[in-house]
Amino acid sequence: MKNVTRRRFGKTLAGTAAATFASASLSRLAFARMATASLQRFPSNFLWGCATAAYQIEGAVNEDGRKPSVWDTFSHTPGNTFQGETGDVADDSYHLYKEDINLLKNLGVSVYRFSISWSRIFPDGTGQPNEKGLAYYQHVVDELLRNNITPYITLFHWDLPQALPGGWQSRDTAKAFADYVGYVSKQLSDRVSHFFTINEFKCFTDLGYKTGKFAPGMKLTDAPVNQIRHNAVLAHGMAVQAIRANAKSGTQIGLAENATVYVPVIEDSEQIEAARRATREENAQFLTVVMEGKYTDGYLEREGANAPKVEAGDLKIIGSPLDFVGLNVYTPEYVRADSSPTGYAIETRQSSYPRMASDWLYIGPEVIYWAVRNVGDIWKPRALYITENGCSADDVITADGRVEDTDRVMYLRNHLTHLHRAASEGYPIKGYFLWSLLDNYEWADGYSKRFGIHYVDFKTQKRTPKLSAEWYREVISRNAVE
Ligand code: FCB
Repeated sequence: MKNVTRRRFGKTLAGTAAATFASASLSRLAFARMATASLQRFPSNFLWGCATAAYQIEGAVNEDGRKPSVWDTFSHTPGNTFQGETGDVADDSYHLYKEDINLLKNLGVSVYRFSISWSRIFPDGTGQPNEKGLAYYQHVVDELLRNNITPYITLFHWDLPQALPGGWQSRDTAKAFADYVGYVSKQLSDRVSHFFTINEFKCFTDLGYKTGKFAPGMKLTDAPVNQIRHNAVLAHGMAVQAIRANAKSGTQIGLAENATVYVPVIEDSEQIEAARRATREENAQFLTVVMEGKYTDGYLEREGANAPKVEAGDLKIIGSPLDFVGLNVYTPEYVRADSSPTGYAIETRQSSYPRMASDWLYIGPEVIYWAVRNVGDIWKPRALYITENGCSADDVITADGRVEDTDRVMYLRNHLTHLHRAASEGYPIKGYFLWSLLDNYEWADGYSKRFGIHYVDFKTQKRTPKLSAEWYREVISRNAVE
């Protein structure tokens, strides 16, 4: 961004402070302290990064042996996505990955979270690995490492190979996933030491098979949906074991989950306890069973005859110990204590509640603090990451090529302030991955919702840093938010 260079930003800060304090006879040291008093510093080894996902950025859907995933089929079926848009080209990052890594370098990030497209590696989901598919990711990893950026790899971000019979309705898919994961982690763990098994269970189970809003677009009843959810958490557990069996020892394993986050309406012990109960109970089918290796009594009672059929040994696999938990955090639910058997009530959202450009993206920056605190208090994971946080905005590029996304800066600044609170209270929060590095294919919303801190002209593939990119670079260089 031409207008707000780093130097100018620094000068403005110093200038304002100087004007304010010039008349007071403060020592130089006191002045320096005050000038930075509002900076909230993160722990010195805190990791700053960005996140993306394969189908949202890569394009090149027919290249080097890749075969379709369920998202190719779904997006090519009329009526499923905004204006029928597909990920055929997306950001063309398959070809432009060096340019994209250069964007990361300019931001100064130390970590990058991206996903592997399963159907590049095993085009039919199982069988013989496709060397060209693996080679692409080896090149990406090598380029990152050359730029001192540590790769964090997501092994499944919704793009299930179309060829797998029954998709997630079949238990065999969990086994196929573990085989793919075992192979990839064996091939890459010489240079990659952090893997996320699965991204956001709900979005490919409930949205894919219950509401039909996402691939594969089915609308099934509760019993099969619960079985699909079970197959998905089982796939996660089997993948954890496959990585431990195949990857270099010391490889760190977790998942990236969008657990529903409950914010207590008032911060007192009763309401905080209500938020904790809601977190465990309302996430029973996903994060709770992963962290505890059992379905809660409440979930089994609620689902009754529709509860999943669990085979011997499943729950132990699902509950395989993790090295870290990744949380994708966007939007809050508010909860209060009440005298019902659950002990909590979830508030209805008012129609005036503020949101960003996506209709689901309600703004409540304290969500990030409570995401960390609830999960940290209930399950005491060794380490936590924010694996996604960010927002869509109605970005406009000016004639001279600027995007002044002050609304996104507002969103990010407020969330980081609340994340800082969690870090300063001692929760083991190790890093933050901003969603997203660049505008991309936002699933059923196509290209209509921009989440990037770099603007992408989808006709020319030109990338332009937005004001938020400049702002994030400052956050990273100071390791602080103001
Ligand atoms: C998350 C997804 C990610 C992106 C963001 C906006 O649910 O994991 O791929 O679409 O939302």
